[in-house]
Amino acid sequence: MAAQPTESPNQKEWGFKKRLTSYGDKDFALFLRKAFIKGAGYSSDALDCPIVGIIDTGSGYNPCHGNVPQLIEAIKRGVMLEGALPVEFPTVSLHESFAHPTSMWLRNLMSMDTEEMLKAQPMDAVVMIGGCDKTVPAQLMGALSANIPSVQLVTGSMLTGSHGGKRVGACTDCRAYWARYRAGEVDEVEIEEVNSQLVASVGTCSVMGTASTMACVAEALGMAPLGSASPPAPTAARMRVAERCGRLAATVLLEDGKKPRDILQKKNFENAMRMLLAIGGSTNGVIHITAIAGRMGIKLDLQDFDKLGETTPVLVDLKPSGMNYMEDFHRAGGVPRVLHELRDRIHLDALTVTGRTLGEDLAAYHGLDFEQSIIRSVSSPIYPTGGLVPLFGTLAPKGALIKVSAASPALLESRARAVVFTSAADMATRIDSPKLDVSESDILVLQNIGPIGGPGMPEAGLLPIPKKLARKGVKDMLRISDGRMSGTAGGSIVLHVSPEAALGGPLALVRTGDEIEISVKERRLDLCISEDEMAARKQEWSERHQGQLEAKRARRGYEGLYMREVTGAEDGCDFRFLSGEWIEST
Ligand code: FES
Ligand code: MG
Repeated sequence: MAAQPTESPNQKEWGFKKRLTSYGDKDFALFLRKAFIKGAGYSSDALDCPIVGIIDTGSGYNPCHGNVPQLIEAIKRGVMLEGALPVEFPTVSLHESFAHPTSMWLRNLMSMDTEEMLKAQPMDAVVMIGGCDKTVPAQLMGALSANIPSVQLVTGSMLTGSHGGKRVGACTDCRAYWARYRAGEVDEVEIEEVNSQLVASVGTCSVMGTASTMACVAEALGMAPLGSASPPAPTAARMRVAERCGRLAATVLLEDGKKPRDILQKKNFENAMRMLLAIGGSTNGVIHITAIAGRMGIKLDLQDFDKLGETTPVLVDLKPSGMNYMEDFHRAGGVPRVLHELRDRIHLDALTVTGRTLGEDLAAYHGLDFEQSIIRSVSSPIYPTGGLVPLFGTLAPKGALIKVSAASPALLESRARAVVFTSAADMATRIDSPKLDVSESDILVLQNIGPIGGPGMPEAGLLPIPKKLARKGVKDMLRISDGRMSGTAGGSIVLHVSPEAALGGPLALVRTGDEIEISVKERRLDLCISEDEMAARKQEWSERHQGQLEAKRARRGYEGLYMREVTGAEDGCDFRFLSGEWIEST
């Protein structure tokens, strides 16, 4: 039987008796509510149970969430096995390819939808079904702000397809084949054939992209049960995880009444950052973890991240840092195995949704020592120290990020000439022009693709290699922008340069022909011009662009709200009014 939910002094009711819309006569409000829900066929008995809400983020536009109907069935089974009442409800659904201008633009909207629906509707605990990149951070941000007992479930990764005898999967291979197509190595017929193989089933991208990263991060944070990140979407194991989440919500979460803010402490976030580093996770993960912690008023900065990186090797051999896919990661033991390898470096006393500590959860997990080659030990890693490195300097006073585990080592200590594109549109027009003055030793700079400039900080940071160089066989160049990069991508890419160009950051002041110096060893990224020159260019920028920035902020609707409130990458791109110190609403 479901536990009776813990009562706090100002919360004496549970189930349908909670959160009544009453204008003075509470009994009448409950009477009305019962009458309406009975219209859906409920009996009076069902109305006396505690409720586990289930967030349905399925949508015809979201193949990454294509198994949500089955997951809901499995969660319901788990909830009812424990004698509670499951009630599903929708929120915003986001898919990377169907979220214009970007899914990042909408992440905070989804977090607000999640928070407000959790606060508006009666439920004692909730299972949140997320999956595609921005959905898991949006749900964790919303759950932290609503602060009701919550467990995160992910949809799971898609299966891999095959092409010409080789396994392929979204979306590292999408990019690799497209680059070969641009270079003339793959023809029209073949590229169309590959297109039908890249996404072989419902579920999230099959490599260590942002979705897989955030699934692993949710587990390491303690907001998802151990072993829940890696089972692929179409498998029986995935459905059993869903059933387990339903049972967990209907028992432990109700009994202990542990809310996200009771579970998450700074140490949980440090475990999450270690996980991100050890799996060679997506650069987007840094922004999301910062934003989630920001909802608790916990400030995580790039220096914290760098410090953890010094003692966290990359252990997981998955694309884009390595060679394999999420199916292989699952077979190799998934997140519990990674935590097992990192056991000397993580906080084992951090609490989790199971009501126990991470150390206790791990100890209850048997058979983590079998032989496999996907998850390495700390003594024989894929990459010796942190795969993600922050950079600071005159080009990025508030920081920038580079995924060194996916970069070309030769490009990480260099000084070279910048070739500048002022916007994504400018780049699209000129990058393939035979007249473009560019050589393989140049640095490609793209301005105005930050949170405001993009807008929505598009994943355009992976600038394509100019066609005339690609055809000569050039595979990598140093590229710098204030945008993001898909977690499934690789290359020598400096991202998240802050302050962004649209705010007049130094990135806006770079001109073709300037020299830029990067030293990953020294964590440095400098624009090599004099201070006087920098100040003169800044003055000129303000005269030309300040008015445009103000006009953007005066826009109507969500666009205006976003333009006024979004923070920089170093603060997680959350809205100012959503992050920071949290005060319980009355
Ligand atoms: Fe949804 Fe990659 S597009 S996870
Ligand atoms: Mg992605």
